[in-house]
Amino acid sequence: MAQILKVDDIHVYYGSIHAVKGVSFEVNEGEVVTLIGANGAGKSTILNTISGLLHPKMGSVLFEGRDLKGVAPHKIVERGLAQVPEGRHIFQQMTVEENLQMGAYTQPNSTIEPGIADVYERFPRLKERRRQIAGTLSGGEQQMLAMGRALMSKPKLLMLDEPSMGLAPILVEQIFDIIRELHAAGTTILLVEQNAQAALSVADRAYVLETGKISLTGTGAELMASDAVRKAYLGG
Ligand SMILES: Nc1ncnc2c1ncn2[C@@H]1O[C@H](COP(=O)(O)OP(=O)(O)OP(=O)(O)O)[C@@H](O)[C@H]1O
Ligand SMILES: [Mg+2]
Repeated sequence: MAQILKVDDIHVYYGSIHAVKGVSFEVNEGEVVTLIGANGAGKSTILNTISGLLHPKMGSVLFEGRDLKGVAPHKIVERGLAQVPEGRHIFQQMTVEENLQMGAYTQPNSTIEPGIADVYERFPRLKERRRQIAGTLSGGEQQMLAMGRALMSKPKLLMLDEPSMGLAPILVEQIFDIIRELHAAGTTILLVEQNAQAALSVADRAYVLETGKISLTGTGAELMASDAVRKAYLGG
């Protein structure tokens, strides 16, 4: 399996706060890899560092073998790395379809219509609501839209930051079903979650993050069965 992402011993600071303390992991083509951890463990900081919004003080991020140091965030999207940020950040005042068009800004115009058709096939709910103002969508629909918008850039790696946040259990299930479908279709995904149960159930491999460091790693199934993970993240 070809390696698509390698995070090598990154340290990330906010001023004097050492938020990420020497984290290393990799993602191979076609895998779903999850980083699980509690509030404040450093999950979003790691994703924001990979997507170029934050800069590591030490260590490196390699995407398809190339160091992303000094590469601007929009150039990183162009190379094929898309992030669905925590809290979704869709364009509230625009329609569903306009949000999808915005997601394709790195793509040639001729591919936008077919791209939108693909997203509507994967998310029929978005097709029904194509003319609706995005800010009036339900939480689950907004998450679908944020994922659809990211897919419009035809990413080689899709990074999802807590897609289950704030959603009712039934919607969490729907979102994870979509992640399973994307995985089955060959999409490579780096998933960050507090919902360890759901994340481990879809992941090929997983890393547990505790206060800025990786404390455990294994397959999704191994970590689901681990006593330490069960006690800390799965309610015993
Ligand atoms: N802009 C910031 N300024 C200062 N400290 C920050 C900033 N953003 C995050 N931190 C701190 O860095 C640490 C890691 O935060 P981060 O947001 O990466 O955690 P997280 O694992 O994503 O948590 P959550 O599950 O709550 O989203 C926390 O201690 C947090 O308080
Ligand atoms: Mg976070």
